[in-house]
Amino acid sequence: MEQNRSSFTGKIGFVLAAAGSAVGLGNIWRFPYLAAQYGGGIFLLTYIVLAVTFGFALMVAEIAIGRKTGLSAISAFGELSSKYSFIGYLGAIVPMIILPYYCVIGGWVTKYMTVFMSGFGKSAASDGAFAGFISQVNEPILWFSIYLGLTALIVLLGVEKGIEKVSKIMMPILIILSIFIAVFVAFMPGAIEGIKYYILPDFKNFSFTTVLAAMGQLFYSMSLAMGIMITYGSYMKKSVSLESSVKQIEFFDTGIAFLAGLMIIPSVFVFSGGDKAALGKGPGLMFETLPKVFANMYGGEIIGLLFFVLVFFAALTSSISLMETVVSIFQDKFKLSRVKSCIVVLLISVALGVPSSLGNGALAWFKIIGMDILSFFDFISNSVIMPIVAFLTCIFVGYVIKPKTLVDEVEITGKFKGKKLFNVMIKYIAPIFIVCILIFSLLEAFGVIKV
Ligand code: PHE
Repeated sequence: MEQNRSSFTGKIGFVLAAAGSAVGLGNIWRFPYLAAQYGGGIFLLTYIVLAVTFGFALMVAEIAIGRKTGLSAISAFGELSSKYSFIGYLGAIVPMIILPYYCVIGGWVTKYMTVFMSGFGKSAASDGAFAGFISQVNEPILWFSIYLGLTALIVLLGVEKGIEKVSKIMMPILIILSIFIAVFVAFMPGAIEGIKYYILPDFKNFSFTTVLAAMGQLFYSMSLAMGIMITYGSYMKKSVSLESSVKQIEFFDTGIAFLAGLMIIPSVFVFSGGDKAALGKGPGLMFETLPKVFANMYGGEIIGLLFFVLVFFAALTSSISLMETVVSIFQDKFKLSRVKSCIVVLLISVALGVPSSLGNGALAWFKIIGMDILSFFDFISNSVIMPIVAFLTCIFVGYVIKPKTLVDEVEITGKFKGKKLFNVMIKYIAPIFIVCILIFSLLEAFGVIKV
């Protein structure tokens, strides 16, 4: 991968490719259910504040590290300072943990897409349809395998570029469709309460876990703290403005997450008759509420189909980027051929993905610190390893290579407007903040303190 490093043609090419990795299930599936669960408006506010401060600084840092070294994560840290390549290794574990369960959810999307395609969209709207589906043994595993196989096939055939092209056309359509659905939902009886819950912050709902959840979501959604943006940065041309690219990626990513919340959270209020417990549904939220919206819509079968096709492609570009990362690590580090490392990654994904799928049914009795298997993988990567990687990245940039090294990289194309913010975030605020949040939320999770 290090040889023949090709560059993205221009700014728009870079922004769209990075946004293709960033925009995925994290925005459409994960963000709304977290926002619903962690207090609505207060979660949204926390997320946006984190995105424009901390997320901005970390994304600038990662892309600058990549562009400066021209290397992917593992080698990039080592290149800048030889003792620190372990940060790259630690970050590399994350996509390996995420990929398997990402494909389980990708499988659910594939199933819903085919259900709407075959004209049975209404059946997905009935109560219990989703719970019935994910608690089975064979069917979810079958869809998981199809989705994972497809991702692997694309990576293996090296046709990512084609898929990316398709998804570039689809992203704007996804945005327009989301706005349409959100407006439709807003006019349903009871939706206003949901919109208020989602937009207006209520500080009563604030807790440290809200902040931890928002921070984990930030990493996940923007593909940070796992080396991916470093790799993307390594393909970025020196003539492209890094700062404004980061702003655009963040804008895209946050905008789509916001719209997804605006579709899904008010519909929870519409269909639960005001029962707040429905907000805590977790990973199933999107799959339970949206089919009900489509069932109530004139032409809902077609809109539903279009929606799931778009989500499918958004997810696919992300899982390709996840798998591509892991495959190239195996290729580089274990000197495996591309085919062999693809097979190894497939085997690991099946080994971790099948239990994640079964955790919703046959293995539901099996809990790790109170979580089902999929939620545990999600927790350990987003709420534990990624904060640690982000913390180490801040320390590395702030005190080892010094922010100026990266500021210079950003300033190749002109003034770095967010320089002060970048310096202060990376050196002081972000590292202290991450440590505090990690400690407090762990204490909270284990019941030592109560907020
Ligand atoms: N950011 C992607 C999403 O929101 C997930 C992802 C994480 C993709 C890491 C690639 C790498 O769905």
